Amino acid sequence: MGKQFWKPGNMLYPLPAVMVSCQRKEEKPNIITVAWVGTVCSDPAMVFVSIRPQRYSYDIIQETGEFVINLTTEQLTRAADYCGVRSGRDVDKFQEMHLTPCTSRNVSAPGIMESPVNIECKVKEIIKLGSHDMFLAEVVGVDVDEECLDENGKFHLNETGLIAYSHGEYFSLGDYVGKFGYSVRKKVQEKGPKDKAKKPNKQKIKRQSRELKGKVPRDKTQTEKRLQSHRKALRDPSKSKKPQ
Ligand SMILES: Cc1cc2nc3c(=O)[nH]c(=O)nc-3n(C[C@H](O)[C@H](O)[C@H](O)COP(=O)(O)O)c2cc1C
Repeated sequence: MGKQFWKPGNMLYPLPAVMVSCQRKEEKPNIITVAWVGTVCSDPAMVFVSIRPQRYSYDIIQETGEFVINLTTEQLTRAADYCGVRSGRDVDKFQEMHLTPCTSRNVSAPGIMESPVNIECKVKEIIKLGSHDMFLAEVVGVDVDEECLDENGKFHLNETGLIAYSHGEYFSLGDYVGKFGYSVRKKVQEKGPKDKAKKPNKQKIKRQSRELKGKVPRDKTQTEKRLQSHRKALRDPSKSKKPQ
């Protein structure tokens, strides 16, 4: 067993594939799918998106200095892919994908109503890197779907069906395998029955991987059941986020 050495390339996966919305005054809003995206600072909350200057969205974001990062879910995967292969120069992506622009509070660019999280961003710096320019931006507000909040105000982001992008393919997230810091909290986990129930289920993980390979029929996981009810909620027009 050995390793094959490859020339430098982008192999940092999985990544989110987000839908970045932007808009010039008096023009239609646009969406560009971006995988070269990340968080760079906690306080102030800062992010980056790297965009090729050839993209229709590039000039809009450069001129307005604003954009919204919309997280993508299983339900939005087809739209995310479409927004990554068609240009706003030729089509109205909101219209084509039946997406609803929703008013942002601190930027003029709209968010995407159907996304569970809209991150409002203001560009601080544009760093020229080569094929892509990096838009370093400050987060100036976050809009979350009230349908994903429980009665105690807890936000159930991990039940919205977030997707990841890895090596050219989209995936829904797999099963829960641990919590921040769990590696050093082993003893506590073993004691509490609540924590014990959260231990990764090796058999379930094995089955899931067999399902993905098509070796056994797909089983409905707990997450999928929750997702179904979330999707139902999404279809409910009495939503709280304000359409534009
Ligand atoms: C999954 C995925 C990820 C992408 N990531 C990026 C990216 O990080 N930066 C970029 O400039 N283009 C990226 N693209 C390509 C743009 O989304 C694509 O060229 C899009 O059509 C540009 O739209 P626009 O011309 O309306 O701005 C990606 C496409 C896909 C499908």
